[in-house]
Amino acid sequence: MYFSALSALPRETVFFVQYIGQQQLVKTITLAFTGASGMPYGMRLLECLLQSGQRVHLVYSMAAQIVARQEMDMVLPNRPPDAERMLAERLGTFSGELHVFGRDDWYAPMASGSNPGDAMVICPCTMGTLAKVASGISDDLIARAADVMLKERRTLILAPREMPFSVIHLENMLTLARAGAVIMPPNPGFYYQPGSVQDMVDFVVARILDHLGVANTLLPRWGEKP
Ligand SMILES: Cc1cc2nc3c(=O)[nH]c(=O)nc-3n(C[C@H](O)[C@H](O)[C@H](O)COP(=O)(O)O)c2cc1C
Repeated sequence: MYFSALSALPRETVFFVQYIGQQQLVKTITLAFTGASGMPYGMRLLECLLQSGQRVHLVYSMAAQIVARQEMDMVLPNRPPDAERMLAERLGTFSGELHVFGRDDWYAPMASGSNPGDAMVICPCTMGTLAKVASGISDDLIARAADVMLKERRTLILAPREMPFSVIHLENMLTLARAGAVIMPPNPGFYYQPGSVQDMVDFVVARILDHLGVANTLLPRWGEKP
């Protein structure tokens, strides 16, 4: 029915309808928080993914729990069921699905190449986790899931935060970019004249969502009238 209706339309319209359809498919996205500064980016990304109806598999490091408390007065629980409850209360209504996994849960879907999901984002990403992923050291679920994304040629985005970067950090980023990862340091631009910290956070999150193929209107598009 759908295809016969489409076949009557001009080719460009069919491509457009298919493109919009692809953009709106529910994606399974692994989101990892690690202990770099920038937890508001990670939390806003989580919120936007869930509000746009995506399925999010969340995992976080022990250092991320410390940074979350430091930067957002937020206690990320040790037990996944407690974390799911806390985050659902904090984020309010959303149409997506949230599943939280322990960092040693080797039975989690993203631990295996047979069930990697569509994409993974490590945001914020520490230099430590970056180094582990660049070296293939899969000693926790975050590093293992990232390793799986690379070997399965799926989208892996890292938002590394440090200042300045050492040669070791830069070489690790180059290694990862060569292996197919997308390095997206959380560097908000100022050309939209941000009026708040929230605007700056949204700048970074919008670019990550774009790379995930998740429709969003967080930022005006360059060259378009607001
Ligand atoms: C408040 C705070 C901020 C930190 N900021 C950074 C940072 O921006 N980048 C970084 O690489 N490490 C940062 N660290 C250090 C990491 O948390 C630490 O190296 C940790 O071992 C990383 O572990 P993980 O990669 O498993 O999260 C920070 C630590 C704290 C407590």
